[in-house]
Amino acid sequence: MKKDYDFIAKIYDPVLYLALKPIRIAVMNEIIKYKEKTILDLCCGTGNQLKLLSKNGFKNLHCLDMSNSMLKIVKKNDCPIKTYNEDATQTSFENESFDIVIMSFAIHEKDRNTQEKIINEAFRLIKKDGFLLVVDYVFDNKTTIFNKIVISIIEKIAGEEHYTNFKNYIRNNGLSSLVKKDGFKLIRNNRNLFNGVTISIYQPNIFHSLIRELHSGVIQ
Ligand SMILES: C[S@@+](CC[C@H](N)C(=O)[O-])C[C@H]1O[C@@H](n2cnc3c(N)ncnc32)[C@H](O)[C@@H]1O
Repeated sequence: MKKDYDFIAKIYDPVLYLALKPIRIAVMNEIIKYKEKTILDLCCGTGNQLKLLSKNGFKNLHCLDMSNSMLKIVKKNDCPIKTYNEDATQTSFENESFDIVIMSFAIHEKDRNTQEKIINEAFRLIKKDGFLLVVDYVFDNKTTIFNKIVISIIEKIAGEEHYTNFKNYIRNNGLSSLVKKDGFKLIRNNRNLFNGVTISIYQPNIFHSLIRELHSGVIQ
């Protein structure tokens, strides 16, 4: 799969930059009050979300991806964004390192085990009073057929493994079956791109640190 991303990195911005621009702006508007906060984009790809934030005065920006080809594109820009070539299932950061963790279009394409590990890792990295912002597909009765077809074609082009994982993600009811209720509570979600995409904000549960320690086995 890592090799797929070398190819995807070449076509990602030419194919998707403009189509995803309204979502990048919507995400920025969600967090516009938090320009001084520490923000991590997990599975950042070419980094367009953080580049937009940087151009609009956000200061403390961190971009992590396992693909060097993607990160090379992040670095092509002059924006002061720190980059990390790491696996999002197991990063080198300390617990509670970030105020905001963003994951956009990062979940649907992974197998269930990897999805769970990445969400658990995000949970570990977010401060008690921080939040998780997830952007990903949603297919329901509000999503237009046209949009379902376009999204499915894009996922098919991304490769067989991506496509299989994407279909399972949709079949399993997307994010709602993944984000554990004991860890996070949904604060709000907004729909975008003709109802084919959801921007969801989750806050760690009030007993965040305790739950995290229970999850990690520190407390038994
Ligand atoms: C579909 S792209 C999304 C990129 C970006 N977040 C966006 O909104 O455009 C998914 C990204 O996840 C990265 N990725 C996949 N598995 C990963 C992992 N285990 N750890 C870190 N990055 C990963 C890929 O390299 C790719 O850049």
